[in-house]
Amino acid sequence: MATTAQASGTFKIGGDLEVTRLGYGAMRITGEGIWGPPRDRDAALAVLRRLPELGVDFIDTADSYGPAISEELIGEALHPYEGMTVATKAGFTRTGPQEWHTLGRPDYLRQQLELSRQRLGVDRIDLWQLHRIDPGTPADDQFQLLLEALDEGLVRHVGLSEVSVADIEAARAVVPIATVQNRYNLADRAAEDVLEYCEREGIGFIPWFPLAAGRLAQPGGAVAEIAAAHDATPGQVALAWLLQRSPVMLPIPGTGSVAHLEENVAAAGLQLTGDEIARLDDASR
Ligand SMILES: NC(=O)c1ccc[n+]([C@@H]2O[C@H](COP(=O)([O-])OP(=O)(O)OC[C@H]3O[C@@H](n4cnc5c(N)ncnc54)[C@H](OP(=O)(O)O)[C@@H]3O)[C@@H](O)[C@H]2O)c1
Repeated sequence: MATTAQASGTFKIGGDLEVTRLGYGAMRITGEGIWGPPRDRDAALAVLRRLPELGVDFIDTADSYGPAISEELIGEALHPYEGMTVATKAGFTRTGPQEWHTLGRPDYLRQQLELSRQRLGVDRIDLWQLHRIDPGTPADDQFQLLLEALDEGLVRHVGLSEVSVADIEAARAVVPIATVQNRYNLADRAAEDVLEYCEREGIGFIPWFPLAAGRLAQPGGAVAEIAAAHDATPGQVALAWLLQRSPVMLPIPGTGSVAHLEENVAAAGLQLTGDEIARLDDASR
């Protein structure tokens, strides 16, 4: 039988919301530049419908992917979600392909929360993440809005994205933080201190751009050699390394292709040896 995501084990977000650690990022089911509808709508829906069959029960999206398109497709393909956890975000406004502008005004965040609830068709969002802390609005006002959303029962847990340890501590003085989503992969470990903090504090760490391995995936590189030894792809090695790196790690590889999704999920069953982990660790630092 094919490997399912369940081989990656589970993590309890906020101590009570259990998800399978290998999740799915739904940013790539929109048009070019994360703008507008996908070129092949049926293919995007097919990827989403394949998720539960492969044991993937944790999906990451955002109001700004499309905008709105990713959440609408998730709702169409998977509502009422049956044991799946859908995490979304707010904090960017969009003006065109690849154009992203932080906007953390509390009235805007609240509007986006309402729209995400409508599009996803839920009373309460499982995990709502502040996509960025907007430097143009007092940070505490943004954290306070997250707290209000929790207190009003509109969201079950809240998270942050692209933050420092100091940012997380400032937020936690106002509101409980269940997850942090930062860029982290074999080619970019700038968020190492944030990962270590999350592990100590039991906060879920969601590494975005998880498949990247940079030069290590080139011929002769550590990832390429280890992949060949396991008859795996470099992307599978990158994901297996993340999963073995920390029990709070929740990678969300994104794809608009069922074949790529199946390949990524198979990485949940790839066990790297201690020597291989040490080699990857050395090469990626
Ligand atoms: N918090 C943030 O600021 C932030 C920023 C960016 C992303 N994210 C989240 O993180 C998720 C993942 O990030 P990401 O999409 O940037 O990076 P990623 O998942 O590491 O890489 C996605 C890219 O890799 C390709 N790909 C996926 N699986 C593949 C496979 N098996 N073989 C070959 N190519 C493959 C995809 O193209 P195909 O579609 O052709 O497979 C796509 O171009 C996003 O979906 C989103 O939910 C968050």
